[in-house]
Amino acid sequence: MTNRASPATPRADEWLLDNSQLRGFIGTVNATRARETDVHRIVAAIRPHFVELLSDPDWLPRKFQQPSQESGMGGGIGMWLLYRAGDGGLAFSALVVPPGAQTPVHDHLAWGLVGLYKGEQEEEVFTRRDDGRDESYADLALSVRQMLRPGDFYELLPENDIHRVRTTSADTSVSLHLLGNDNGCIWRHRFEPETDSAQPFRSGWLNVECRDEEDA
Ligand SMILES: [Fe+2]
Repeated sequence: MTNRASPATPRADEWLLDNSQLRGFIGTVNATRARETDVHRIVAAIRPHFVELLSDPDWLPRKFQQPSQESGMGGGIGMWLLYRAGDGGLAFSALVVPPGAQTPVHDHLAWGLVGLYKGEQEEEVFTRRDDGRDESYADLALSVRQMLRPGDFYELLPENDIHRVRTTSADTSVSLHLLGNDNGCIWRHRFEPETDSAQPFRSGWLNVECRDEEDA
């Protein structure tokens, strides 16, 4: 199990969706991460551009707003990749959660910005109380519960990297996820707070294969 943030031979960027709004946003994000290394500064610089994209109703085609039974998240939750950088340092995706469905409790292992595009979600953030040395054990405590409506967003940073989201609206929710890694393909963790357990987890993407040779 290897997480390779920077493949030895950079690949081409992949655009699963290509339009002017997405090109403009990703261009700004890539310029930001090229000049900044501090994750808090990266997220702060991107925030206003993310807000702009969240408020634009026209750029995300309906095919990326569909749930799916084939997702690694389970529960009919769709994870659609929109863009990923060839260097492995950025992925932008849409998470589609049917009414009442929820993700497992999971981590991300990268900085991120997550915002509600459609529907409503509840997010529960967990704090880890153990030192993480035991791969199969995690002592988690619920630290924040918040409701999100379209236009609301939050940051993923090392201090709040573990959460679960659930759709609370009668309609399917769609949230946009900007992550500083290829979060569909890296090995990360899912947790069961009720039993203090942790397992290796790779969610995959619905519309793109993972580059398995990089995990050898
Ligand atoms: Fe997440």
